[in-house]
Amino acid sequence: MSGPADGRRRGREIHLAARPHGLPTPRDFRLVEVDVPDPVEGEVLVRNELTSVDPYMRGRMDAGPSYMPAFELDAPLDGGAIGRVVASGDGRFSPGQLVSHALGWRDYALVPARHVRAVDETLAPASAYLGVLGAPGWTAYVGLFDVGALRDGDVVFVSGAAGAVGSLAGQLAKLRGHRVVGSAGSPAKVAHLLDELGFDAAFDYHAGPVAELLAAAAPEGIDVYFDNVGGEHLEAALGAMRLHGRVAVCGSISTYNAVERPAGPRNLDLLFARRITMRGFMVRDHRDRYDDFVRDVSGWLRDGRIVYRETFVDGLENAPQALIGLLRGANTGKMLVRVAPGP
Ligand SMILES: NC(=O)c1ccc[n+]([C@@H]2O[C@H](COP(=O)([O-])OP(=O)(O)OC[C@H]3O[C@@H](n4cnc5c(N)ncnc54)[C@H](OP(=O)(O)O)[C@@H]3O)[C@@H](O)[C@H]2O)c1
Repeated sequence: MSGPADGRRRGREIHLAARPHGLPTPRDFRLVEVDVPDPVEGEVLVRNELTSVDPYMRGRMDAGPSYMPAFELDAPLDGGAIGRVVASGDGRFSPGQLVSHALGWRDYALVPARHVRAVDETLAPASAYLGVLGAPGWTAYVGLFDVGALRDGDVVFVSGAAGAVGSLAGQLAKLRGHRVVGSAGSPAKVAHLLDELGFDAAFDYHAGPVAELLAAAAPEGIDVYFDNVGGEHLEAALGAMRLHGRVAVCGSISTYNAVERPAGPRNLDLLFARRITMRGFMVRDHRDRYDDFVRDVSGWLRDGRIVYRETFVDGLENAPQALIGLLRGANTGKMLVRVAPGP
């Protein structure tokens, strides 16, 4: 990277070098140095400080149709980012201002001003806007309250419970007074759920068949399943469902690296037998709930009723390793890359 003193600003980007087969490897990514142009009218040039690392990026590394466009080969990846304005072609933004946008995975982002959002650092630290106060937090809020349609007395099961979405979903259910069970991928994460996030019961899904572990953690059965994982977890959750149970289908990370699509849960007959509702959702369809989410969750954060963790990887050059790590459970809470330190 270099400043514009020599007349040319240079920056780095992470490109997709190859489409992964199964779990991505470092060879699927390439660090590329590029010239960074100045912004024209209607554009904002941002020096990224943090970039988000998210499971949905794995799907975009594959070719073919998905709910988001596939990443192009030999072109930069993108994703949520926080940074400071360097130069602005829009009167609403000025140099030094902290903003969020969707062109992460690079040092400098040239962003259309209509896609830039000012970040209010008085409410929470900047990184929170990519996690608990960003898309993952909003996903937990909508998925639990709207899609999960909680009723008094429901027992709630959250998978991927130590991750960005799951850790908030579980805490929100606890805030509403529910009994909450979580699953995660290590004993340390299970201890985090029980000791720091207030879950009533939790298990490490590597410790045995998920159906047996869930039956032990929720012997009375469950009413709502917040599904981040799919696969064996989903089948186990359906098996544990009580009458009129609900499944909020948020994601299925256990299948994202699958080379062949696994067969679905073998017990879908339970949907009619137990009158279960299973509903998938995309958070971006719920913009009408964004302001409610920010108001409620920022308030609960301020009151200390919600806590959150973050896992930081330093250096843009290590972002590929951060994504590979996320897909293998290296994070507790939100996975972020520090592209550059703040001022
Ligand atoms: N529908 C929407 O609008 C929306 C929006 C955002 C995210 N999502 C989905 O929400 C889910 C969570 O996303 P996030 O951003 O909060 O990520 P995250 O949970 O912070 O990170 C991913 C976690 O997945 C777990 N994992 C990896 N492989 C697994 C496997 N085979 N079985 C079980 N768990 C596995 C790992 O934790 P362990 O150590 O516990 O294995 C890892 O830490 C993902 O499915 C994502 O696609 C959906």
